[in-house]
Amino acid sequence: MSERPLHEGKLDRAQALSNAQREEMYATISTTPVTPVIGVEIEDVDLTVDVPDDQIEDLTRALANYNVLFFRDQPELTPEQQIRFARRFGELHLHPAAPKDAEHPELFVIHTHGESFVNNGADWHTDVSCDEEPPLGTMLQIHRTPGSGGDTLFANMYAAYDALSERMKSLLDGKIAVHDSERAYRGRYSDKGVDDTGVTFPTADHPVIRTHPVSGRRALYVNETFTKRIRGMTEEESDAILEFLYRHMVRPEFQVRFHWKPNSIAFWDNRCTQHLAMWDYWPNERYGHRVTVKGDKPFYRAN
Ligand code: SIN
Repeated sequence: MSERPLHEGKLDRAQALSNAQREEMYATISTTPVTPVIGVEIEDVDLTVDVPDDQIEDLTRALANYNVLFFRDQPELTPEQQIRFARRFGELHLHPAAPKDAEHPELFVIHTHGESFVNNGADWHTDVSCDEEPPLGTMLQIHRTPGSGGDTLFANMYAAYDALSERMKSLLDGKIAVHDSERAYRGRYSDKGVDDTGVTFPTADHPVIRTHPVSGRRALYVNETFTKRIRGMTEEESDAILEFLYRHMVRPEFQVRFHWKPNSIAFWDNRCTQHLAMWDYWPNERYGHRVTVKGDKPFYRAN
């Protein structure tokens, strides 16, 4: 079911769901949408224990429908608690470039401070779209915030797709794009002691429009961090279309901007969402733990 359709850039009020209908859809969790287009605050879930199956089912649907789940009321999770929760959504993903925690290789430490010279995720992207089977979702808990700044911006790629003209949708229909990580990853983690000499970084082909396996909706699936070109077009044509899409897909009305408080959690769906981590707080520190769930090979279902 399509919960928040945008057609030609406008909210289709006739199809928008009432709050009562939404509550019925998620009987075991409390959901408060943050904007009409993207993001929902979740309450009544305890992430320190093994979350019951019916809540995992509701969270799975909420993730696909709202793009990003925010939890404000959790304590600092141990790595084991965070990993156990993320595993309920699938096998965990190992990052192809970032340094691995010795005890928990699935844990990606997000840490930016006065000595850092890059910030993770500073440009719009969907996580590791250069993998053949890119991550389904990513769960980040920020333990220490810089006080002000360090927000994360999320944009809804269903809404970006829905708002395209029918002409542009048919032009993109069935197109394949190359996602390459050499530019994004080479030398990227050298300040964290990673020597990537001799490492080959992943590259993969994916549909420009992908069908979400849970919601059945279509989402734009190119991003400026990893997408290199659209196959079957000249370089100039591909560059022009990608430039247009990169501007279009992050229009403010498709976005939510999340302000972190200590121990806030965001769990985003990479299949229908892009994000950008704002580095406006140097030389202050921001620290957290990220765990990423493996996904399937993206596919496109034509009508
Ligand atoms: C990321 O892109 O995984 C980092 C997001 C953040 O630090 O807010």
